Amino acid sequence: MPFRSRTRSRLRSHGRSGDRKKLSPGAIRVAGAALLLLLSMLIIAGCGTSSSPTVLDPKGPIAAKEAGLFWLILIIASVVFVLVAGFLLYSIIRYRARPDSPAPRQVGGNFGLEITWTIVPSVVLLIVLVATITTMFQLTQPNDPGTITVRAIGHQWWWEFQYPDLNIVTADEMHIPAGHVAHIDLVSDNVIHSFWVPALGGKTDVIPGHNNAMWLKGDNPGGPYRGECAEFCGTQHAHMDFAVMVDSPADFATWASNQQSGPVAPTPGQIAAGEQVYAHGKCITCHVINGVDKLTNPIGPNLTHFGSRLLIAGAVLSNTPENLRSWIYDAQAIKNGSDMPSFTDMSSDDLDALVAYLGSLK
Ligand code: CUA
Repeated sequence: MPFRSRTRSRLRSHGRSGDRKKLSPGAIRVAGAALLLLLSMLIIAGCGTSSSPTVLDPKGPIAAKEAGLFWLILIIASVVFVLVAGFLLYSIIRYRARPDSPAPRQVGGNFGLEITWTIVPSVVLLIVLVATITTMFQLTQPNDPGTITVRAIGHQWWWEFQYPDLNIVTADEMHIPAGHVAHIDLVSDNVIHSFWVPALGGKTDVIPGHNNAMWLKGDNPGGPYRGECAEFCGTQHAHMDFAVMVDSPADFATWASNQQSGPVAPTPGQIAAGEQVYAHGKCITCHVINGVDKLTNPIGPNLTHFGSRLLIAGAVLSNTPENLRSWIYDAQAIKNGSDMPSFTDMSSDDLDALVAYLGSLK
């Protein structure tokens, strides 16, 4: 009789003849804890909101291929996990030590088993490797005459988007035309960030002194899709988001031509007063509004079409007059450590005028 069947029959007969005990309190506690963990995972999985970025609802070809790879590997890993953990649990419970158990027979190796558990994982890993490499090749940037180029610049802690071919500079919000490749040059002059739009594709590091590039494509007009910095870059790393709009080509052209135009002329009254506050205050030491000031290397976002943006302050706040007012008044309370100072000494009238002016810059 070969070793395995002999052992099994002996153990089985032992199990039958021996006083089979109920599970110990310890085993019940472990099983209870495992069940609780599983339940809490299910509950936490329900916490996502519709605005949460997710890789499981792909909106472009890169994200779709990556999600396909994710599901394939998840299924393979789950089957392996269930088999291994199930076999382990079965062995632990079925062959646990009992009073009067004889010492198990000590054996050396088993040639057949060892060959099997070398070959089976190798085949599984080979499948994963082939699928991964195939996906990597499929993700090389395709030729598209309609490709647009964007320079995404990681600052601490917000994203600037420059369109060198279109002469556009914006912040917190990236527009790309649906159905076309957006080639993205990733630039940082400070620390390492990581550029990630989960709905559209995987992340790429943004490294000072080493300009990475990636590409994205949205299949259909949609968004805003939340983008995030995915590399710890300082205390406000978690507040370094941005929004991506996938516009129809016509909407993109409209957006681009609006962004290329000069700032809206201020209407007399509060808005004109706000322009004076901007142009004669401290704002122009860090910001640019095309035609109003000409700072060459601004620390802060270009504000020429500030009013057209959905989000401000590194996408931490939606662009409402109330939020903008709080941001200018005490940015440090909202985003401690950012380059934007608080202006708690600004008069209420100046603050209101500045908010009205910036909001008018559509
Ligand atoms: Cu930038 Cu994290």
